[in-house]
Formats: sequence, C-alpha cells, structure tokens
Amino acid sequence: MSPVREIGHPQLIQELVTEIQDSGRISFARFMEQALYHEQFGYYMTQRDGTTDASAPRIGWKGDYVTTPHFHTFLAKSLVRQIREMDECLGYPDSFVIVEMGAGAGLLARDVLRECATTVPDLYHRLTYLLIERSPAMRVMQKHAVHEFSGPEGCVSWVNSLDELGDALLTGVLFSNELVDAFPVHRICIKRGTVQEVFVEYQDDQFIERLSTPSTAALESFVSRWGIPLVDGYTTEVNLQAVAWMKDVARVLAQGFVVTIDYGHTARDYFAPERNSGTLVGYYRHQFETNPYERVGLQDLTAHVNFSSLVDTGEAVGLQCTGFTDLQHFLLSVGIEAMLKDCDQEGEEVKAAAQLLNPRGMGRTFKILIQQKGLSECPELSGLRYRPFFEDVLECGESVVH
Ligand SMILES: C[S@@+](CC[C@H](N)C(=O)[O-])C[C@H]1O[C@@H](n2cnc3c(N)ncnc32)[C@H](O)[C@@H]1O
Repeated sequence: MSPVREIGHPQLIQELVTEIQDSGRISFARFMEQALYHEQFGYYMTQRDGTTDASAPRIGWKGDYVTTPHFHTFLAKSLVRQIREMDECLGYPDSFVIVEMGAGAGLLARDVLRECATTVPDLYHRLTYLLIERSPAMRVMQKHAVHEFSGPEGCVSWVNSLDELGDALLTGVLFSNELVDAFPVHRICIKRGTVQEVFVEYQDDQFIERLSTPSTAALESFVSRWGIPLVDGYTTEVNLQAVAWMKDVARVLAQGFVVTIDYGHTARDYFAPERNSGTLVGYYRHQFETNPYERVGLQDLTAHVNFSSLVDTGEAVGLQCTGFTDLQHFLLSVGIEAMLKDCDQEGEEVKAAAQLLNPRGMGRTFKILIQQKGLSECPELSGLRYRPFFEDVLECGESVVH
C-alpha cells in the first residue's frame, strides 16, 4: 500500500481507510480526532519518532510549532500576578487549586510554579497544581518540566480528563493555553442557503471531501445562533467539543475562575463574510499547511476559537464572563513594562516581549477570556483593565441568505 505513505502516518492512514470503508464516510471532526488523538498513531499521542520519549518533540523550536511560554516567562509571571488577585477575591482559601488543562510540553506549568514559589510563598504553600492531559507523550514532557515540584512532597499531580474529577470540587483557577484550538472541529459549508457538513471519503489512494446533510442538528442550531452568513460556498468550523468542555469545566468548579488563552475571535469577527474559508490550518516544522489531508498524523491541525460560544455556553451553566481582552492588553495591564525596566533594551527579553505584544501578531491574535463562578460580584481584575475593546463578545449577527 505504498501511496498512503506519502499522505501521512502509514498505520494511521490504514486505520482511517478501514473506518471509512466500514461506514462509507466519516465526519471531518472524526477525521481530525483520529489524526490528532488516535490512541497509538495520533499526532499528539506520541513524539515525532513514534515514542513518548521527548528527544524528538512535536512542540518546541525543534518541533512543529512553538507557543507563548517558548518565548519567555512573561505570560507565567503575568498569570501569577492575576492569580494573586483571584486568591484575594476568593478570600485566601486553605486549599487553592490551579488546574492547567492541555499543558503540552509543560513549560508554562513549570514557570507558573516557579513564580508562585518565589514570589507568593503563602499561596504556594496552599497550592495543589493539577495537570489534565490526555496524551501520554505530553505527560512525559510535563513530568520532566515540573520534576522539581512533583514527587511525594510536591504539589503537582495528573489526571487524564475532567471526567475523573467530582462535581463542584475545585476552588481556585482552571486555565489553559492553546487547548481549545486543538479540539477536533466539524466543518460546514453553505449550499443554496442550507447547511451542509464536510465528510471525508477515501478514493484513488487519497482522502476526498463530500458535502452532505449534517450528522447532528447542533450544527444548524450553531449556524443560526451565531448568524453565520448563508452565502453559497461559505465554509467554516464548528467546535462542538469546546461547548461540551465549557459545561464540564463549570461542573468541576465550585468557586473560582476559568482563564482561557488562545488565538481566536468574537463570533462577529469569526463569521465575518470575508472570512469565508474558515481558520483550519496545519503546522509542520514551523510552516503553515492548508491541506489537512497532507502528512496525516504527522502535522498539527488547529482551528481558531470562537470565544463568544465559550461565553454563551458558560453563561448557561453558571460561569459569568468576568472579561475578555487580548494578550497585548493583558500583559500591559498586569505590568510587563515594569518587568522590562531593568532588562537590556537591545537584549533577548525585550525582543521576546516585543513579539508577545505585537499588535499585528501574537499581541492581538491571542485572546484571554476570564470567567467566574460562585462569586457575589464581578471583581476588578487588573489584567482586564482594557476589556472595553471586546464588549461585543456576546453579540451575534443574524443569518442572511444571499
Ligand atoms: C497546542 S497544545 C497546548 C500547548 C501548551 N498549553 C503550551 O502552552 O505550550 C494542546 C495540548 O492539549 C492537549 N489536549 C487536547 N485535548 C485535550 C483534552 N480533551 N484533555 C486534555 N488535554 C488535551 C494536547 O494533548 C496538548 O498537550
């Protein structure tokens, strides 16, 4: 079966082909789920050499892409400043839990823990740091990154999923950086004013797309909820897993905050008529790839996050929106300038800060959503001082037929 080698991980392709042959077709969401998270051959479930050994990592400068913590510890330091205020809002509970979900290589976890231990020892002594990670390979990297805080005396532990946690158990903060963009998405396309779903078939040694009636009514409801333009050919993604995730998050949190950091948009921007082919991309060795059927299982696949949908779902399950801003304004408002004061102005730290703050890049593309549960009033968090830019986070348009 030689041609399959060229389009991805051979055993993964074989598994996908068998599944498609058995059922005739699969949804794009199922294809993406298997490409990223197939138990043995999914992109995230092993490192590049097919093992869980971190010598050939997927994430990092030697891998396929880097994330904010690979640039500097600024995000970790800023988060800890924000978490201090959250601790105060919660009345300094005896046991404060930080849950980080989808920590990848674990750099942010390491830096948050170091910052906490050195600058807020009182909080650190009350801290449980729980990592939720579905990938065995990523867990190996995380164990290595936070080894100084784990072990019998340490405050760090792991679970595989939110399902393993009881209801309303946690008081503290649940945060994630680039988790939601890694959830498998459904893809839809508008044809003659109706919603069609993208399905994947396999023909002549390649994956092909076919449009058909949606596999779930949730897709049509999503289209009308967010006013997705009913314009012929308009194609976009629907992240139903993000909706389910938000509900699970609300379930496990007794009192505290949810901090979601990711690239994405409000619904109004996401579903703007000009963004007519969606946001799905692949990453391989630091290059964009627009074809998801290349290097299947060997490249990352990701789609931008619809933050309005997270806020909307959150509101329905008891998570109130504290505020929404972007990385640039978050970092500035918690005090990155003061952190840079003593740095060499030509040095690496200032260059890293410039990248994180860049309004034409990470500074604007990355957003920070903070939600809260169980608090009597909406606190003034310093990281959200500039939130008025995004007051339309909950607004949605109306579907218009063209
Ligand atoms: C893009 S990486 C995140 C990188 C990391 N947060 C950072 O700051 O570098 C996505 C991570 O989320 C994990 N992940 C995806 N879906 C998950 C789920 N449902 N539960 C737990 N972890 C998940 C992946 O295995 C991976 O570690």
